[in-house]
Amino acid sequence: MITKLPLDFKNKMKNLLGDEYEEFIKAYEYENKQSFRLNLLKGTKEIFLKKHTFTTSPIPWIDEGFYYSKDDFPGKHPFHHAGVYYIQEPSAMTVVSLLNIKPKDRVLDLCAAPGGKTTFAASKLENQGVLVSNEIVQKRSRILLHNVERMGIKNSMITNEDSHKLSKYFSEFFTKIIVDAPCSGEGMFRKDPNCCDEWSTNNVLKCAERQNEILENAYKMLSPGGQLIYSTCTFSPEENEMAIDKFISKFPDMKIIELPLLEGFSQGRPEWTNSQNPDLKNTIRLWPHINKGEGHYIALLEKDGMPKDIKPTSNKTNLDKKQMEEFNKFFKETLNISIDDLLEDGILKIFGESLYLTPYQLNTIELKGLNILRNGLHLGDFKKNRFEPSHHLALALKKDQVKYSHNFNSSNVKKYLLGETLDVEDSFNGWTLILIDGYSLGWGKSKNGLCKNHYPKGLRVNK
Ligand SMILES: C[S@@+](CC[C@H](N)C(=O)[O-])C[C@H]1O[C@@H](n2cnc3c(N)ncnc32)[C@H](O)[C@@H]1O
Repeated sequence: MITKLPLDFKNKMKNLLGDEYEEFIKAYEYENKQSFRLNLLKGTKEIFLKKHTFTTSPIPWIDEGFYYSKDDFPGKHPFHHAGVYYIQEPSAMTVVSLLNIKPKDRVLDLCAAPGGKTTFAASKLENQGVLVSNEIVQKRSRILLHNVERMGIKNSMITNEDSHKLSKYFSEFFTKIIVDAPCSGEGMFRKDPNCCDEWSTNNVLKCAERQNEILENAYKMLSPGGQLIYSTCTFSPEENEMAIDKFISKFPDMKIIELPLLEGFSQGRPEWTNSQNPDLKNTIRLWPHINKGEGHYIALLEKDGMPKDIKPTSNKTNLDKKQMEEFNKFFKETLNISIDDLLEDGILKIFGESLYLTPYQLNTIELKGLNILRNGLHLGDFKKNRFEPSHHLALALKKDQVKYSHNFNSSNVKKYLLGETLDVEDSFNGWTLILIDGYSLGWGKSKNGLCKNHYPKGLRVNK
């Protein structure tokens, strides 16, 4: 592996790290550690610990993070289909763990795909407040959408835009912003040696320019009193301390907030910048030779001032009477929750045949012209004269929120994931939530003692 590392990269790191370089470079020979983070929207850590059969050990600084053994394949386990966890390396998890997200926050994840930071932010929001997850690359924004659905996130709007256009819509709107910037990816070299081929000194400088532009657009969207967390998975000072230094010199109302120096964390390096601003010491570096992860740089910044509150709107729906009746019928037959409870967090909105529960905070924004893949929770679709619930809704529900459910375990759930009709003897006709060890997985529909499989075709597994 070391031989594949670009020579200019090795020389640069040698220059920067001095005596520490040998330790740093040796880390490229270590096997990378595999880990996942629990999705607390699906259930508590205590419940998960009773149910899982993996060989895990806790990641010391992430409460819901676990290393797993290379003999386990959590990505292939039915729990993965149910969004019980997100496979993510420990340094990447650290970013959102250091952002103090509260349930009422309005959060923007500006460079969000495939969704590692977004799904963590959503878990901290506890399905309250609002999360706008943006991804500039269309194909990647679809993967992001899939992960948001899988994790049962109700309050996220997914957009496919560049940061400049987005900033025109959301002036000073967000109380928390995550900028997990596109970077030269030096921290990915161990996990994916092909990343070495894309590296060049020139590319590092291009990335720094792009980061500068993204940060400036993020600034426009940050509310007074709001916090912005910036991260990269690269080591170059140009994309890290120097990028932050440039940003705070341009925007003096942004100040660096000190991040905790937990075990295995290292301080930022002001000596690698022209200004040598000592505040840069309060940003952190995660090095692969010090910390069991791939490496990251993280800076937390705050804008002067006080955020404004957004009040819920009284207008709760744009459905016509007939649509409301059909939806009510489905609701009463299938769910154990009241429509009033549902509407506490959002507004029912119909687009074409599809019905969404959209976060009320976004009702204050003119969204016309924005490329939106999902606005809130897709509840389902009106088909002829019936309402058909969506897969997104199934994943957002818990067992006690539905009238009927069938619970499977990892040895007998395969039939469902394959898309086959289920051998259950139901005495009722209607929608039933399929569960794996108590976690929602998708819909089935019972009729005359047979349960038809509604697991989406694109997600089914092969024999
Ligand atoms: C480091 S990745 C994000 C990883 C993601 N936050 C996660 O935790 O799963 C950076 C993302 O920025 C996107 N990107 C590339 N150019 C961009 C630009 N000019 N503005 C905003 N995002 C960009 C990339 O497509 C990529 O998905």
